[in-house]
Amino acid sequence: MSEIQFDGKTAVVTGAGGGLGKAYALLLASRGAKVVVNDLGGTFDGKGVDSTPAQKVVDQIKTTGGEAVANYENVSEWAGAQKIIQTAIDNYGQVDILINNAGILRDKSLLKMEIADYLKVIEVHLNGTFFCTKAAFAHMREQNYGRIVSTASAAGVYGNFGQTNYGAAKMGIVGLMNCVCQEGARYGILANTIVPTAGTRLTATVMPPDVIDKIKPEYVAPMVAYLSSELCQVSGKIFSAGGGYYSRAAIIEGPGVFFDPEAKITPEMIAEQFEQISSVEGGREFGSAMEQTGHILSKMSV
Ligand code: NAI
Repeated sequence: MSEIQFDGKTAVVTGAGGGLGKAYALLLASRGAKVVVNDLGGTFDGKGVDSTPAQKVVDQIKTTGGEAVANYENVSEWAGAQKIIQTAIDNYGQVDILINNAGILRDKSLLKMEIADYLKVIEVHLNGTFFCTKAAFAHMREQNYGRIVSTASAAGVYGNFGQTNYGAAKMGIVGLMNCVCQEGARYGILANTIVPTAGTRLTATVMPPDVIDKIKPEYVAPMVAYLSSELCQVSGKIFSAGGGYYSRAAIIEGPGVFFDPEAKITPEMIAEQFEQISSVEGGREFGSAMEQTGHILSKMSV
């Protein structure tokens, strides 16, 4: 097959000063994309600011003949998100690709979690993804083209001890992208979500150093690059990637049971049928909320 290239395309990668975002920015730039390298800098738990990481990635891209510009705004502020997207417009006239990747961690078990740490994590991940997506969407709609890749986590999709703030934000991003997928469809805007696994400063808090060295961000980058490309035609999907593993995760609804809605339905009837209600064997995905509602109504013969 012909090589996937990004000539003539502009990509915004948030949190691209290190870790996964850096790997995405380098790969896209090496294949012809003009890249806005956004990064606020600061610590893994979202303290302080530093323009060095984003600038270093831009310097690296330029050294190898690529084109990039740095931006140091905070994704979790609406004004900041608008400036990130405006940087793409001012420098390159368009924004074709948005990779929502910026992130922090503030892990604590539920009872120990400070409200401020809950809110901060929601602000950076969920609000940051909403703000950047909203700002980019306006331009993508004008262009009738866009690729948006946002970042969830296994902590949200499957759960993880001590990450109620992070898990809520990450699964919120899945819900956000499911809806952006619906709204973008008629404008050629595709929105997908990645569930990465990679050794970075975030995972260095929970993984041993030899594992961190092995599962490089560079393994996730090809999946994100594909989802960012013109070749990609899927939308509203969740993909796992890491350590050479690539897969799709999905929300599946089982065939369930249908009781006669005209009859009295009791909690005991639920208890009796609970095994069948719980089974996802022979289940299916729904492309939208309307499709799921339509399924229920069709069974009711409404
Ligand atoms: P990282 O800490 O190396 O990269 C995150 C970058 O985001 C940092 O450079 C940081 O300065 C930047 N950032 C933080 N807050 C920002 C803000 N408000 N505005 C702009 N930039 C900001 O961590 P990593 O692992 O590369 O994380 C990238 C994304 O992948 C995050 O969303 C993370 O939650 C997600 N993720 C990573 C996993 C992994 O295995 N590394 C697993 C699951 C999800």
